[in-house]
Amino acid sequence: MRTIAVLNQKGGVGKTTTAIHLAAGAAEAGRQVLLVDLDPQANATSGLGLEHVPGKSLYPVLVGQARAVDMLQASRQANLQILPSELDLAGAEIELAGMDNPLLRVREALAPLRSDPAFDLVIIDCPPSVGLLMTSALVAAEKILVPVQCEYFALEGVGKILNLVERIKQGDLNPSLSILGIVLTMYDTRTRLSQQVSEDLRAHLGEQVFRTIIPRSVRLAEAPSHGRTIYEYDNSGVAAASYRQLTTEFLSRL
Ligand SMILES: Nc1ncnc2c1ncn2[C@@H]1O[C@H](COP(=O)(O)OP(=O)(O)O)[C@@H](O)[C@H]1O
Ligand SMILES: [Mg+2]
Repeated sequence: MRTIAVLNQKGGVGKTTTAIHLAAGAAEAGRQVLLVDLDPQANATSGLGLEHVPGKSLYPVLVGQARAVDMLQASRQANLQILPSELDLAGAEIELAGMDNPLLRVREALAPLRSDPAFDLVIIDCPPSVGLLMTSALVAAEKILVPVQCEYFALEGVGKILNLVERIKQGDLNPSLSILGIVLTMYDTRTRLSQQVSEDLRAHLGEQVFRTIIPRSVRLAEAPSHGRTIYEYDNSGVAAASYRQLTTEFLSRL
């Protein structure tokens, strides 16, 4: 069993899009996948075309009112289940803050699923802000994957995440946490900027950067509004091919 958190403290960099397409891609490749939507905005849930159901999220599990396994929802795709989110999860930050060992709660809530032989892979889509939920994901995960938008200050942003990971590793909550890799997203072949940012990141971070680059794609931006993955919405397009290639690289790195 592998648990990977898709994480970046910035919003709008492609976390949810990447989490959805790695999860769906790995499911397509025959892995039994659980996608955990840890963002109260619930974009991963709606991106897969699932309704937000009041009371169905990790929240009741965190406060001890439900079992994680009872929160699961099937997706349209074989081998892919989701632990959905809805707005209540926003309250988890506050509830957690009042509990003992708040940073361990998400890990404990997910533990029965992680040890469930029904799953090969757990992928966590994280909220953007550095709060208790995101930090809890760093404690719950074995590895993190960082989507980075090809724009100015990308390197500074990655530096902040690497520092955060180091801090977690030095504490006693998750010393074996490691970085699975950094994924360049929204790459625009027409701009020098994308190329510069990509060269910069590779120069500083070397092999930590995935070879596969996700291009900017209007189809990819449209797909979630139809509640579909890019594999369903535009299966023969370049974005679907890129995320499939990323999935292959992702699985080989695990
Ligand atoms: N490669 C891409 N090309 C074009 N639009 C994208 C791409 N990846 C994501 N988007 C769009 O950009 C927005 C932010 O992406 P999202 O995955 O939700 O980021 P995050 O989860 O980091 O906030 C969404 O509207 C999404 O559909
Ligand atoms: Mg998101």
